[in-house]
Amino acid sequence: MATAPQVVDSELQKMAREHLWMHFSRMGAYSPEHEIPLITRADGCYVYDEHGNRYLDGLSALFCVNAGHGRTELGEAAARQVEELDFYTLWSYAHPRAIELAARIAGLAPGDLNRVFFTDGGSEAVESALKLARNFHRAHGKGQKHKFIAREVAYHGTSLGALSATGITNLRNQFEPLVAGACHVPNTNIYRWPEDRDPMWAADAIEERIVFEGPETVAAVILEPVQNAGGCFVPPDGYFKRVREICDQYDVLLISDEVICAWGRLGHYFGCERFGYQPDLITTAKGITSAYAPMGAVIASDRVFEPFSEGDASFAHGFTFAGHPVVAAIALANIDVFEREDLCGHVLAKEDEFRGMLESLRELPIVGDVRGAGFFQAIELVKDRDTKESFNDEESERLLRGFLSGELYKRGLICRADDRGDPVIQLAPPLICDTEQFEEIHDVLSGVLTEAWDQVVAHG
Ligand SMILES: Cc1ncc(COP(=O)(O)O)c(C=O)c1O
Repeated sequence: MATAPQVVDSELQKMAREHLWMHFSRMGAYSPEHEIPLITRADGCYVYDEHGNRYLDGLSALFCVNAGHGRTELGEAAARQVEELDFYTLWSYAHPRAIELAARIAGLAPGDLNRVFFTDGGSEAVESALKLARNFHRAHGKGQKHKFIAREVAYHGTSLGALSATGITNLRNQFEPLVAGACHVPNTNIYRWPEDRDPMWAADAIEERIVFEGPETVAAVILEPVQNAGGCFVPPDGYFKRVREICDQYDVLLISDEVICAWGRLGHYFGCERFGYQPDLITTAKGITSAYAPMGAVIASDRVFEPFSEGDASFAHGFTFAGHPVVAAIALANIDVFEREDLCGHVLAKEDEFRGMLESLRELPIVGDVRGAGFFQAIELVKDRDTKESFNDEESERLLRGFLSGELYKRGLICRADDRGDPVIQLAPPLICDTEQFEEIHDVLSGVLTEAWDQVVAHG
């Protein structure tokens, strides 16, 4: 358990304040009195800061260290690879590790998702999939099909194409104009739906939007199996079956954005398996290497690859480092760990226990909803459980940034307190977590959420 941060202002803190530009961070908030959280080492489910305080990594860093920290065999695989072949590019060349990894991923991916296009991360994977969808239709003489449909509040990355798919207004509007052709439809935030709403309402909204835009203009629909932003929105039964039918009917590609939901997060190698649908493209990243090195990928079906398979056709797109041999060696070693330790099986065996622990927090007045799948769960925080009244912007700022984030960290739990939709706490621990860690998460959350209610809600 962590203790209160000491005011030490180390050399690293000073250098970070002067030279490091942290992502999505209010750099002005840091000072000698408000130090930057500085993680210096990690092991298993835990990370340690510069003072030696231990934290349970309840978010797998950023939904990515799926196999857990400190697996030296992944580093050894990297070292062996450097001795054999440090780097060669996939622009017009191939190398053994990229070939082996592509074949291994194709073997794990469902149905005819047999072709792997590597990238360096999730945004690049989404960017590549969107361009590929446009190129695919153009190859079939349907170049007018250029629009893509995504869901409100969903996060699909930060590069301009991926950001266009992202449905979070205040991330989008500061960088507009974005890539033309992005449309947004309602998500599956069932907690906020009227009780008598047709469960197919959100799927039908996709069809309505395709018809409204003109099917001859729509290239793809991009959806996560469980939507992260907003707090682990699970689909209602039959949602993806209906979406698949709609995509088939209007000749629209279905992209399953599994940057988070693949690699065991939902108890399967790919999130679409959990909900029984077959996408045309999967975008993935993060857990593909358990974050020991950056990598992403687009996995395409035989049908999507077909126009690029003959004659002088090519997908005129790529990244220097994508499929890097050292990173591919790490990814292969990571999949070895998954198979040897049956990490997907572990998630399926333990998800009820993990969820049960979170469900027990429903007795706290601030807990409105608990939802998610596998080791990917969220707690929605509310002002009034009966009416589901949420917090306004000012209250949410005070609750999340003014209290919860700091307090959870101080008590040794790293998780996400997020208000890109309504305020939620999200948990996505390493897939090796077990009863001991679930109990630890419970104890920290129940203390902090009780205090949040007393300090921030009850006494304003
Ligand atoms: C669903 C989804 N798509 C895309 C991305 C972007 O990935 P990256 O941060 O690796 O660019 C993320 C990142 O969290 C994500 O969750």
